[in-house]
Amino acid sequence: MTKLLRAPTGAQITTIKAVLFLLCLLPAIDLALGWRADALGANPIETLTRAGGEWTLRFLLITLAVTPLRRLTGLHWLIRLRRMLGLFAFAYGTAHFATYLWLDQFFDWGAIARDILERPFITVGFAAFVLLVPLAATSNAFAIRRLGGRRWQALHRAVYAIAILGVLHYWWLVKADLLEPFLYALILAALLGARAWWRELERRRQLAVSPPAPALNRAVIRIVPK
Ligand code: HEM
Repeated sequence: MTKLLRAPTGAQITTIKAVLFLLCLLPAIDLALGWRADALGANPIETLTRAGGEWTLRFLLITLAVTPLRRLTGLHWLIRLRRMLGLFAFAYGTAHFATYLWLDQFFDWGAIARDILERPFITVGFAAFVLLVPLAATSNAFAIRRLGGRRWQALHRAVYAIAILGVLHYWWLVKADLLEPFLYALILAALLGARAWWRELERRRQLAVSPPAPALNRAVIRIVPK
């Protein structure tokens, strides 16, 4: 068991991914069955929209949690699950947006445009979704090769902004009980704080190991042939 946890083989990772894939599908299956059985409450469209939004945010935060979890546990293979989790965030985001376009607004593009321009929580949700599209489109090995690692990483840093916009979107639409959006904001702050802290530690470590500039100059002068 510990060996499986520490260093799973390729085949075991494939199995873990398959199980995770099914787990990630569960909320969608649950909602689809609820819809079919007419068991989503008095306002099923609202239930669907809200559940879709909430799962989008959850998957965004779970995706952001992979790197800190990997650092804390030393389970480096966890990184191999990150792309799937990010793509599930996108899939639930797309379903959430589609529910809004179709079941909430009946593809009334004028009303949708007005909503996006005039209701700040919709503006922010829309911005989050628009930013999510290029990340999903470039989440494959071909895009990483074409963009190059550095540019790909810079682009994918947008996921932090997307998560912040997602929390803001939720915070803005809640009228009374702010507890849930507050909890999401707290989790996001912890995840971003952990990353900032590790980056700072890394910066200090690099400063500590790099030799002072004058010594470096002397070394260079010595090896240049006359
Ligand atoms: C990454 C993108 C997005 C995230 C993370 C997100 C997240 C959320 C969350 C957490 C909720 C609240 C769920 C609850 O009440 O339990 C929500 C509700 C909602 N979102 Fe989004 N959302 C996103 C994009 C969008 C977009 C693009 C639209 C439409 C343009 C949109 C429209 C709505 C609407 C209409 C509601 C329900 C508001 C209500 O019931 O009063 N969202 N969303």
